[in-house]
Amino acid sequence: MDRVDELLSQMTVEEKVKLLVGVGLPGLFGNPHSKVPGAAGETHPIPRLGIPSAVLADGPAGLRINPNREGDEKTYHATAFPVETMLASTWNRELLEEVGKAMGEEAREYGVDVLLAPAINIHRNPLCGRNFEYYSEDPVLSGELAAAFVKGVQSQGVGACVKHFAANEQETNRMLVDTLVSERALREIYLRAFEIAVKKGRPWAVMSAYNKLNGKYCSQHEWLLKEVLRKEWGFEGLVMSDWYAGDSAAEQIKSGNDLIMPGKSYQVNQQRVDEVEEILDALRSGKLTEEELDECVRNVLKVFLNSPSFRGYRYSNNPNLEAHARVAYLAGVEGVVLLKNENTLPISRETKVALFGTGQIETVKGGTGSGDTHPRYVINVLDGLRERKVKLDERLARIYEDYVQKMRQKEEYKVRRDAWGTPIKPKLPENFLDEKDLKKFAKENDVAVIVISRISGEGYDRKPVKGDFYLSDDERELVEVVSKSFHEFGKKVVVLLNIGSPIEVASWRDLVDAILVIWQAGQETGRVVADVLVGEVSPSGKLPTTFPKDYSDVPSWTFPGEPKENPQKVIYEEDIYVGYRYYDTFGVEPAYEFGYGLSYTKFEYKDLKIERDGEVLKVSYTIRNVGDFAGKEVSQVYVKAPKGKIGKPFQELKTFHKTKLLKTREEELVTLEIPLRDLASFDGREWVVEAGEYEIRVGASSRDIRLKGCVVLEEKRYKP
Ligand code: GLC
Repeated sequence: MDRVDELLSQMTVEEKVKLLVGVGLPGLFGNPHSKVPGAAGETHPIPRLGIPSAVLADGPAGLRINPNREGDEKTYHATAFPVETMLASTWNRELLEEVGKAMGEEAREYGVDVLLAPAINIHRNPLCGRNFEYYSEDPVLSGELAAAFVKGVQSQGVGACVKHFAANEQETNRMLVDTLVSERALREIYLRAFEIAVKKGRPWAVMSAYNKLNGKYCSQHEWLLKEVLRKEWGFEGLVMSDWYAGDSAAEQIKSGNDLIMPGKSYQVNQQRVDEVEEILDALRSGKLTEEELDECVRNVLKVFLNSPSFRGYRYSNNPNLEAHARVAYLAGVEGVVLLKNENTLPISRETKVALFGTGQIETVKGGTGSGDTHPRYVINVLDGLRERKVKLDERLARIYEDYVQKMRQKEEYKVRRDAWGTPIKPKLPENFLDEKDLKKFAKENDVAVIVISRISGEGYDRKPVKGDFYLSDDERELVEVVSKSFHEFGKKVVVLLNIGSPIEVASWRDLVDAILVIWQAGQETGRVVADVLVGEVSPSGKLPTTFPKDYSDVPSWTFPGEPKENPQKVIYEEDIYVGYRYYDTFGVEPAYEFGYGLSYTKFEYKDLKIERDGEVLKVSYTIRNVGDFAGKEVSQVYVKAPKGKIGKPFQELKTFHKTKLLKTREEELVTLEIPLRDLASFDGREWVVEAGEYEIRVGASSRDIRLKGCVVLEEKRYKP
């Protein structure tokens, strides 16, 4: 008998049920402490059987635990990595694995058993408040990077938890909203990233989502959790609920949601319901069988028996934060996306820089909510440029430092804290410099750099208004007056977008000479920005999500559902036409397309070869650096399917590759494989590769196709 069955046979029913329900949010509902203060959840210990509690902690941009503890002078900081959208902008599987390793080591050394990451919901709409926590609008890019990250985390002996399963693409009314979506869109888009992550990464855990899916809570959805996740995909880990998700603990256990987090209790019509009692009642009434209960207990034990807590690992509370800071920096520099560069970047170290925008000081390192982080430090843009000895106009810098400091003392601009204790900073007016002064700065400096920042987070979505999706009036004025003054003296203007998800750029991008998306790069932000600006490293990031020309172009017009102020349901009417799948198919020009990103050098693509080898297409081509700068190139392989019975997007990403750092004139042979199964579309019952000619399109972006080839395929069908 193996250890799981042995423990199972010794456990009382009460002990089994307790193992499936968390001990409650530390500090709430009677759980005064946590083994690791700040961790999001903990499972019940069963000392009689030598079963310790397991610790679960967020998040996708770094381990989120309290940096300080009552009566303890030691600190417990963890590294703040770039947010997931920036990690996705690297298109670098190996790098994601490195980030996963670093986060996994920090989780292990701080006593955490499962890291509640990666989050891989789809960027269905740019206004989703948690898009910064998600990789992309495309499920292949999301799934491939998630699998790499999971492998990295789990190589450290702790678990990763892929979340939020599934179709949880908004924050508005997230715990109750019913996502109505076709099975085809589910399988091809919203489940696809999870399928890839589960099959290739083999995560210890999956977190079911808050929302309902076609009428049923995801945490109470047997088809989703047993049929698809386990039977079709072969998932062998445990499923945990999101925190306080669903409305029936017994239903969750019955449906294959093995672990109810954070546990303890929830209020239903003012009636306090304790999940343990509810499950015991369901067993007594026969609504739940002991076999169904045991299935969940087995899943939980199987996973946790491998965890550090169960193995009695003696963690150090001293992870290698120095080494991980370097990983965060490298991920940052590879995630920066150069959108525009008219003979402006890189600047030299002799270039005199006038830095504008309060975001140079209040640089946004990441988003808020459970995806937040508590690093030892954050290098803001201003300090990063200072540290790298960029020739800054210090008079202007001090004006900004004084301005921010004084404004934050005013009542209306005071920093407040939200329910998570996260600082909420009212936006400061950006256009406060007078014209005369501006002219002086323009005369005395060579380049203007303007920082535009945005922040969003869990629990609320962004708005298609000025100051959010659009520039505010004062931001727009700042861009205009700085551009006017500097252009009068023939000087250049650069905008840095310190954002977690797209904003509107089309209406003002012609006013400036260069645009860098620096996303939210975590604790190393300022160093990342400085090194890219001065050409220490060429930007190699590419957009994992479309920048639409205007919000009205976005296909998910039903976002965030009906009624708008408190949506009970959201219908994914755009179906599979999400992101570039929509813009390319229906001929809508984006501001910057999926996969787009410039470099300081240029790359040539050549010698495309396509060869079918049984059930696999082998695609190879050569990339050569034909510019004057060393750089890395992300190439993307899209497939355009023949017209058939099933309607399809114009093209779909099937795989991608990032070169090593290529010196000028150096080239790299790229060889990739695409399983034929990946070319199939879901016809409502099964996956079909329709007969005909498939065009293989190798691009530097989804719209900059450099090589094309064709392969003719016969029809093939695959069971889900
Ligand atoms: C939150 C989030 C989830 C997080 C969990 C624990 O509500 O939805 O991503 O891991 O609760 O903090």
